[in-house]
Amino acid sequence: MSTEAPVAVVTGGARRLGRHLCTTLAARGYDVVILYRSSEEAAHALEQQIVATGRRARAQSVDVGVEPQVADAFAEIARMEGRVDLLVNNVGNYNPQDITDLNPAVWDATLATNLSGAYYCCFHALPLMLAQGNIINIGMAGLEGIRANVRGADYYVSKTGLLSLTRSLAVAYAGRNIRVNMVSPGQLDNSVDLPPPDEIGRTVPLGRAGELHDVAQAVEYLLDARYVTGANIDVAGGYRL
Ligand SMILES: NC(=O)c1ccc[n+]([C@@H]2O[C@H](COP(=O)([O-])OP(=O)(O)OC[C@H]3O[C@@H](n4cnc5c(N)ncnc54)[C@H](OP(=O)(O)O)[C@@H]3O)[C@@H](O)[C@H]2O)c1
Repeated sequence: MSTEAPVAVVTGGARRLGRHLCTTLAARGYDVVILYRSSEEAAHALEQQIVATGRRARAQSVDVGVEPQVADAFAEIARMEGRVDLLVNNVGNYNPQDITDLNPAVWDATLATNLSGAYYCCFHALPLMLAQGNIINIGMAGLEGIRANVRGADYYVSKTGLLSLTRSLAVAYAGRNIRVNMVSPGQLDNSVDLPPPDEIGRTVPLGRAGELHDVAQAVEYLLDARYVTGANIDVAGGYRL
C-alpha cells in the first residue's frame, strides 16, 4: 500500500553520514527506509528515533553487493511502502591500500559494493518511482578530471564509475521526471585519513574538514532543484581542485 508521505531509501543508513542523511530527510517530511548490512542495533535505534518524531521509518538489512538481496529488499519496500521518491546510494567502502599491494578480492569487493551495489539499487528502485523520482549518489571530491590515485585505486575507480552511471541514468530517465545527481564529499571530520587540524589547510583550501551537515546541505539543495540533473557537487572546501 502506498504511503502519503514521500519515501526515501538510504543505503548504509545506520551510521555516520547515512544516519545523518536519514534524520535530515525525516525532518524534511520523508518516511525513511534505513538499509543496513551489519549495524542492526544502530539501525533499529535510528528507526525508533525517527518514529518518535512522528515519521515512519523502517530498518532493513541488505548486502548491496549481492543482487538477489537487493531485489528482495526492494520487493519488501514495494510491499511495505509502495513507492520510492528518493534513493540515496551512500554505501562507499574505503580501505586504502597501495595499488601495488591491492588484492583482487579487495578490488572485487569494492567494485561490488560501491558501484554494482549502487546500480542494483537504482535498477530495483526505478520501477517504484512513480510520477517523479530522485536519485543521489554519494561520490568523492575531485572526480571531474581523471587522475592517478595510487592509494585507493579501487575506491577511486568505483566512484568514477558511479559518476558515469549518474550521468547515464540522468539522461535516460529525464523523460520520466527522475533526476539523478551526485554529491561528493572531500575530507569529512570522521575521515580515516584526516590530517591534523594544523595541517589540513595544506590540502583543503577552506582550512577545515567537512561536517556531515555540509554534505546534507547539498543533498537538501538537490531535493528542491527541479532543473538539475546529471550534476556532481563537490562538498570539499576546495580539496582536490
Ligand atoms: N567519510 C569521509 O570522509 C568521506 C569522504 C569522501 C566520500 N565519502 C563517501 O560518503 C559516503 C559515506 O561515508 P561514511 O564514511 O559515512 O561511510 P562508512 O561508514 O564507510 O559506511 C557506511 C555504511 O555502509 C554500509 N555498508 C558497507 N558495505 C555494505 C554492503 N555491502 N551492503 C550494505 N551496506 C554496506 C555499512 O553498514 P553497516 O554498518 O550496517 O555494515 C556502513 O555503516 C560513502 O559513499 C563515502 O565514499 C566519505
